Amino acid sequence: MADGSVVVVGGTRGLGREVAQFYADQGRDVVITGRDATSAGAFAAEIGGSTRGVGLDLAEPETIAAALADVGEVAHLVLAAIERDSNSVKDYDIAAAMRLVTLKLVGYTEVIHTLLPKLGDDSSILIFGGLARDRPYPGSTTVTTVNGGVTGLVRTLVIELAPRRVNALHPAIVGDSPQWIDMPAERHDALVQRTPTGRLVTMAEVIDASRFLLENGAMNGINLAVDGGWLCM
Ligand SMILES: NC(=O)c1ccc[n+]([C@@H]2O[C@H](COP(=O)([O-])OP(=O)(O)OC[C@H]3O[C@@H](n4cnc5c(N)ncnc54)[C@H](OP(=O)(O)O)[C@@H]3O)[C@@H](O)[C@H]2O)c1
Repeated sequence: MADGSVVVVGGTRGLGREVAQFYADQGRDVVITGRDATSAGAFAAEIGGSTRGVGLDLAEPETIAAALADVGEVAHLVLAAIERDSNSVKDYDIAAAMRLVTLKLVGYTEVIHTLLPKLGDDSSILIFGGLARDRPYPGSTTVTTVNGGVTGLVRTLVIELAPRRVNALHPAIVGDSPQWIDMPAERHDALVQRTPTGRLVTMAEVIDASRFLLENGAMNGINLAVDGGWLCM
């Protein structure tokens, strides 16, 4: 495995936190980020080991370089942060759209730009998109757009950052993630009916797919759906 730490942007909660916990449990040096430095530090202490917390706001990309200035050599960079947005064309909220587009496309790219001198030839990057890319729903206009942008971002980064590897995961609704664990039973059942495996994807399955894309040296330029077969329906 490449030398250096595992940096998880959006590692205070949800899927990012699970990835951070996985690598901390393996004895790796882990850096997690959230918007607030103090709470990121508290979450890092909960994760344990040598995990460190950093505060940065991806929607304010000009501030990112200073926030990450003391991060050393990086083996794996995971970009998992998200601000949830429900935004239809009919009732378009420009401010919310600008925040999400900036966060996921400009903010993610600025993190990579900032850490590039710390990312060795053996390092790898994993970007979280989502299945809303292929399966839109009313209100997903900006989410679907940015997740499509992630697909393009992966492809250009593979060329620009070679030989470093860059991949993306596009999970379906992760049933046991904090975001969805309390969803109404009616919605849960409707989602299950559209999933050939007959159940929703789990956090553990997403973490396993993350590890595969981060560590398998042949995986590069992949936009992997983790969806229990939903795209076949
Ligand atoms: N959960 C799912 O079912 C699902 C499905 C498809 C795709 N995904 C994708 O998977 C990724 C993780 O989703 P999740 O559900 O695990 O997320 P989550 O639980 O909502 O966690 C979001 C993370 O992003 C950070 N964050 C939010 N706004 C930020 C900002 N402006 N700047 C920097 N960091 C910010 C949060 O940190 P603080 O709150 O500490 O600031 C937190 O660590 C996302 O990219 C999402 O689109 C998730």
